[in-house]
Amino acid sequence: MNISVIGTGYVGLPAGAGLAKHGHQVTCVDIDEDKVEKINNGECPIFEKGLPELLDEVVSEGKLEATTDTKTAVKNADIVLLAVGTPMDEEGNINLDYIKQASEDVAEGMKERNGYQTIVVKSTVVPGTTENEVIPILEQSGKKAGEDFGICMNPEFLREGTALNDFLEPDRIVIGELDEKSGEQLEKMYSNFNAPIMRTGLKEAELIKYASNSILATKISFINEVGNLCKELGIDVYEVADGVGMDHRVKRDFLDSGAGFGGSCFPKDVRALIKFMEENKVEPRILQSVIDVNVDQKTKLVEQLEQHYPDLTDKKVAVLGLSFKPGTDDIRKSPAIPIIQELKDKGAKVKAYDPKAIENMKQKHPDIQYTSNYKKALENTDAGLIVTDWPEFNSISRKDLKTMKRPLLLEGRRMEYDLDEEDTAGITWP
Ligand code: UDX
Repeated sequence: MNISVIGTGYVGLPAGAGLAKHGHQVTCVDIDEDKVEKINNGECPIFEKGLPELLDEVVSEGKLEATTDTKTAVKNADIVLLAVGTPMDEEGNINLDYIKQASEDVAEGMKERNGYQTIVVKSTVVPGTTENEVIPILEQSGKKAGEDFGICMNPEFLREGTALNDFLEPDRIVIGELDEKSGEQLEKMYSNFNAPIMRTGLKEAELIKYASNSILATKISFINEVGNLCKELGIDVYEVADGVGMDHRVKRDFLDSGAGFGGSCFPKDVRALIKFMEENKVEPRILQSVIDVNVDQKTKLVEQLEQHYPDLTDKKVAVLGLSFKPGTDDIRKSPAIPIIQELKDKGAKVKAYDPKAIENMKQKHPDIQYTSNYKKALENTDAGLIVTDWPEFNSISRKDLKTMKRPLLLEGRRMEYDLDEEDTAGITWP
């Protein structure tokens, strides 16, 4: 099939490359000319495991190309995937500007299309958006949804860092459809995928995405709350999580306690669902607590540091790990951001290291010292805080701790290194 993907971000690009791998002819569209040029040269504009290799392969085979010309890309497409961002504004509302603009551009291309095609919303949008916002814009093409063209809402459950693999091997594919014909065409696109397909309505699909992210975020805040009790009791929250997770109704996944969840999805999507519930007169009691626990959790490491140094003025502190999780250079809503802020506010001198995210963190915190490896970050410091569990931090040795003024590592993430117990402490474990 001919597929056009609008937006080449963390969702659009892995999806485009994955569909090309499955034999489709893919055109990726972006307004950013630099990105388009990079993609056409087989270069990957984002850091995502396996994507540079696959992109190089499908571009050189002529299965994928990029363009800034939405009109032509839409005219030629059997299926158009809308995969632009839906960022959050100050009040927690999702910003629909990009999706509205993209829909307008798509409508222009639809005018020139001869024959049926299906437009698919992949961006995360609150229930009702596809029907009430996207369809009316697309119908400005003079065509009628459900008659002249198909429309689906097909949420994406990709994790950054493993996005390509998650796209190629999903747990399930959710197809929200306006009518049967729309859904059938999209189901055809996925015919080579080995995953159960759920066909449902547009609003249902939209809510499945928010409810999925919200329950995962709830599991994390829940285990962090239990972890805070564990810390008081001197017991290990990971043993508790292992025991609880053996119940197949709960599952062990997403019960890793730590410095809280960050990223572009959980914080934004839970907040957007809270706002949407309020607009619909439903009190979001659980989800508000999920956010509150998470906000407090992010800076708990600094509180714990103050138990060792009640006055942080001029204390040298290493912050290891700046991205919101390992395997990505993304720092959006990373716990490292408020942690560094608090340390600075309290007069500490921060040395920071991350294998991938230093350049991004420099935009947020330009006035701290960055080092080229974790050893240099730890040298001559009063304490080290581990905020992201990059595998390389498991190699931290007793020798590394000897270069510190005082050997003290506070873990915001569970590590597997072999260090003396008295030199380390976990955020929710001894
Ligand atoms: C998430 C969802 O997993 C994905 O399905 C959705 O499409 C987008 O949002 P992502 O944000 O890439 O993906 O990362 P994820 O691996 O889910 O982790 C999110 C945050 O939760 C990270 O900060 C991570 O450190 C934290 N986390 C995750 C925990 O603190 N404990 C856990 O057990 C799991």
